Amino acid sequence: MTDAVVPRADDFDEIAAFLALCFHGDTDPEVQEVERPIFEPERSLLIRDGGTAVAHAGAFSRDLAVPGGSVPAAHVSMVAVAPTHRRRGLLTGLMRRQLREIRDAGREPVAVLWASEGRIYPRFGYGSAAQRLMLTADTTGLRLPAPTPAEGTLRLDRPAPHTDELARLYERARADRPGWSRRDERWWAYVLLDAKGRRGGATERRVLLHHGPDGLDGYALYRTKEDWVGDVPRGEVQVGEVVAVTPEASLALWRLLLSVDLTRRLSFPTAAVDEPLLRLVDEPRQLAPQLADALWVRVVDVPAALAARRYATDVDVVIEVTDDLLPENTGRWRLVGGPAGAECSATTSPAGVACDVRALGELLLSGTTPAALAAAGRVRELLPNTLAAATPAFTWHRAPSPMENF
Ligand SMILES: CC(C)(COP(=O)(O)OP(=O)(O)OC[C@H]1O[C@@H](n2cnc3c(N)ncnc32)[C@H](O)[C@@H]1OP(=O)(O)O)[C@@H](O)C(=O)NCCC(=O)NCCS
Repeated sequence: MTDAVVPRADDFDEIAAFLALCFHGDTDPEVQEVERPIFEPERSLLIRDGGTAVAHAGAFSRDLAVPGGSVPAAHVSMVAVAPTHRRRGLLTGLMRRQLREIRDAGREPVAVLWASEGRIYPRFGYGSAAQRLMLTADTTGLRLPAPTPAEGTLRLDRPAPHTDELARLYERARADRPGWSRRDERWWAYVLLDAKGRRGGATERRVLLHHGPDGLDGYALYRTKEDWVGDVPRGEVQVGEVVAVTPEASLALWRLLLSVDLTRRLSFPTAAVDEPLLRLVDEPRQLAPQLADALWVRVVDVPAALAARRYATDVDVVIEVTDDLLPENTGRWRLVGGPAGAECSATTSPAGVACDVRALGELLLSGTTPAALAAAGRVRELLPNTLAAATPAFTWHRAPSPMENF
């Protein structure tokens, strides 16, 4: 077996076939054509045994929205170990090397990923940073408030011709949505990829566009799936994304999505925990929300990561951090921040709280608070009243949203 090597661009097909094997799928040329340009071979690590791929981990270079800002983040993905080679420490080796390389490159203070299973990544310092609500709604009889005069017009189309305006609106909304990753053209092609083999019997993807007084202010990406029980329609609306920058746009989009003729169900697997729909419908129970982990964040450079975001209230706290994999992070860090920005630097002052680096990942997007982690025994208060003072600062006015699974 070889040590991990950095593959070349033309190893992509081999890696794609290997990942398909590990994730129980088939390779699809249509998917590969879109994924090939986003593959960053120089950031990949590949292990072969007897010339055959047996382990791989990759990363994409993108920016991640954090409270009040945006930070370069290694978007870790394409991680797998062959069934024949699992539980021998190959993933552990790849994760250690990858984190070391991200740290040494010095560009990205955090790494972020979606986990196939929640227990895989905490041991590498990743914390559950943004949860999602999986909605599987029974839409029968579900009501929304009456239309307001300010509601604009809706238009239905294929997404591709609208990519530029969708991108502009997404980027505008992203400024106020921790957890959303920047998308360039290649990433829009990935998001809008509509391979037939991945539709699961549903229609092609449609876009619903809402125009208000100032132009496009909301869109939804969705499919529908036909279903009949005898001659009773039970079709499903499968929502992929909803982006709205006004309440009127949100209301108008949801009104249509919840009432598509011949459908009785709606699914939306990546709703933010503060998704407006939960507060709009007359019977939230019919949305059947189920909470799940989604974005996992690994703080790679403690002072740079904590200084990259803003804080809801003024905060001046010393945090004692432990990090077994990146010892540079271990130590005492003084964070001085507030709504206008933050600074973080090493200090010898006594610490007010102590935690491991995983807890910092959980706090970075304001998906939880120091007090909540302390209640779970994951943050320790060392000086009285530190938690009460620091907790409001780590909140944010929007919940982190994990809308795109990369
Ligand atoms: C998840 C996966 C990458 C793990 O690779 P691996 O090489 O077997 O992992 P390691 O041998 O380095 O395991 C390290 C530790 O994590 C544990 N672990 C790894 N995967 C686990 C899983 N899925 N569930 C529970 N524990 C897991 C191992 O038991 C081991 O614990 P130990 O040190 O206490 O014995 C591999 O099983 C896989 O490819 N699965 C299918 C694809 C997938 O889910 N990829 C991850 C995408 S996010």
